[in-house]
Amino acid sequence: MPETASPPSAAGLVFSARTEPEGERFDAPAGQPLLQSALQAGVVLRSSCRNGTCRTCLCRARGQVAYRIEWPGLSAEEKAENYILPCVAYPLSDVVLLTWDQG
Ligand code: FES
Repeated sequence: MPETASPPSAAGLVFSARTEPEGERFDAPAGQPLLQSALQAGVVLRSSCRNGTCRTCLCRARGQVAYRIEWPGLSAEEKAENYILPCVAYPLSDVVLLTWDQG
């Protein structure tokens, strides 16, 4: 999953997000973390700290995301295996959250 550590430049864009296997869909504005968008839509995702440190929200995903914090609580190996932290991950594309694979 391509990823950048720089803030999203397309803050006005709204992407589509979906959970798998639940099939719940929600709008995912580029300017806010995926977890926040999910909660606003009534989609419950596992979470705790909501600041990228506890890893409760860890799940694998398809799509592109960016982080505004220097190094979220993910190893390079986890990033390479498409794991993300939805509480601090900003979408750069449509995203599918594979909630069955939460690490
Ligand atoms: S809720 Fe703690 S890292 Fe996402």
